[in-house]
Amino acid sequence: MTILIEQPDHLGDEVEAKTAPIDERELVLDGGFVIPQTNSFGHMFRAYDAESERQQGVENFYRKNHTYQSVDFVKKMRDEYAKLNRVEMSIWECCELLNEVVDESDPDLEEPQIEHLLQTAEAIRRDYPNEDWLHLTGLIHDLGKVINLPSFGGLPQWAVVGDTFPVGCRFDESIVHHKYFKENPDYNNPSYNTKYGIYSEKCGLDNVMMSWGHDDYMYLVAKKNNTTLPSAALFIIRYHSFYALHREGAYKHLMNDEDVENLKWLHIFNKYDLYSKSNVRIDAERVKPYYLSLIEKVSTL
Ligand SMILES: [Fe+2]
Ligand SMILES: [Fe+2]
Repeated sequence: MTILIEQPDHLGDEVEAKTAPIDERELVLDGGFVIPQTNSFGHMFRAYDAESERQQGVENFYRKNHTYQSVDFVKKMRDEYAKLNRVEMSIWECCELLNEVVDESDPDLEEPQIEHLLQTAEAIRRDYPNEDWLHLTGLIHDLGKVINLPSFGGLPQWAVVGDTFPVGCRFDESIVHHKYFKENPDYNNPSYNTKYGIYSEKCGLDNVMMSWGHDDYMYLVAKKNNTTLPSAALFIIRYHSFYALHREGAYKHLMNDEDVENLKWLHIFNKYDLYSKSNVRIDAERVKPYYLSLIEKVSTL
């Protein structure tokens, strides 16, 4: 059944940003990416309120996510996964492995994950042909989802996917399904529930603990392998699910000057991450040589 709902306000902002990309113009001309109005189910993108079974699943997902993502939990996960002692594999092997993961938090996606990686990367490549680092970022940005698989610890969905947010300071009201934070042990902790919490003004997002999931894991993997990707790529990888920041503009008081610069690229990237999810198939074998050559270029990763 297809249920069409009213377009959420913030989606309007996104569409408007496309026609007046002030920040984006500072970097590079927009390549004319056309934003579709509905996802592959015929719903508006990121329509979390539609009354379908899938939407209820998404809400249930966020109930668990907001209840359990605390400072203690994030510290434990970061310590454990920073060891990188799970599996050794090539990036392309990991792209293929990702097909086994289903993202229950995503109301827009029903394609295999490798399709999403390639659709994102190829759409960016078409519009920004000279930014090869951004093509590769598109390809790898979701690889951290493998932590859902048994060989990588088999973490539950709420610790792998979904929107991310800082822990250690107040949960901003713009975070989707904010009401479920009331069950979080940090919600009533005076050390963690103020505007700055354990952080300070302009401390830099690098110093902020984010709720644990595929974004922070992939960031750790890239950093610990001494990647030569630019800092904007690492920023995109770590914060691409941080919608409270890149869509709602919350938590900007924690950003330093480098974060401000990198956020411009994340705004560009997010359009492709979100709206390139469609049923147009990409021939993986045809584009594989190009991406293998990019991987070779940053071969320390
Ligand atoms: Fe993601
Ligand atoms: Fe993605």
